[in-house]
Amino acid sequence: MTADTRPIGVFDSGVGGISVLGELIKLMPNENFIYFGDSRNAPYGTKPHELVRELTFATASLLIEAQCKCLVIACNTATAAAVRPLRELYPKVPVIGIEPAIKPAVLANPDGRVLVMATPVTLGEDKFHRLMAKYDQMAHISTLACPGIVEFVEKGIVEGEDLDAYLRKLLSEYTDTPPDAAVLGCTHYPFVRRSISRVLGKNTDIYDGGNGTARETRHQLELHGLLAPPGQNGAITIRNSNGQMVGLSLELLEIARKL
Ligand code: DGL
Repeated sequence: MTADTRPIGVFDSGVGGISVLGELIKLMPNENFIYFGDSRNAPYGTKPHELVRELTFATASLLIEAQCKCLVIACNTATAAAVRPLRELYPKVPVIGIEPAIKPAVLANPDGRVLVMATPVTLGEDKFHRLMAKYDQMAHISTLACPGIVEFVEKGIVEGEDLDAYLRKLLSEYTDTPPDAAVLGCTHYPFVRRSISRVLGKNTDIYDGGNGTARETRHQLELHGLLAPPGQNGAITIRNSNGQMVGLSLELLEIARKL
């Protein structure tokens, strides 16, 4: 079996993708990782499609230059807007995207009420519409654009009264009759999962795509003979287009390892 110690490149519009990095590390502690957060340009989820593509391409090229053996787009927005052209641009590099975890939420709640929370860009993309169309006969799926949550997380606010008040307002239509499942369709949202759960109540199961993306990444590495040798823990390098965000990123990584 071949072994490849080159790093796995993981990126997001900011610090949200660290929730996915946490899952990747749990599953493959022996791999080396480079995480790049583009906090200088966050949020992506309210920007025009073309600009999201440009920003995604720019980050991907940094990680390719850093000799990454595969790319994980730890951002639902960038995946929805750019995964296909990115794969065309780097045909030799596995590019793994993330998508809202509608499938497990619907399969666990047949005929149930499933609420998908995501950015406006994600919800507007064809890729998302195709995903919805696959499952909307099996459950009552509704969508909610959630601009604003990303900004809380980028400021390092993952709990507290201001956040709870914001979420109560955002989710006000869903608090009287809470959904059976809520899908966190943005990688920043798992960091505020506890607040979302407090607002919707304990009868709403919460899903996110982080673990599924980590499993798919391992599968792709296996398939391409790119897994690192087993043994000691790999190195984790955190970079950000806003250097001041590295400290917060490391704090969030500690939270993500326990999510
Ligand atoms: N974390 C991102 C996502 O998964 C993007 C959030 C944003 O920048 O708006 O969609």
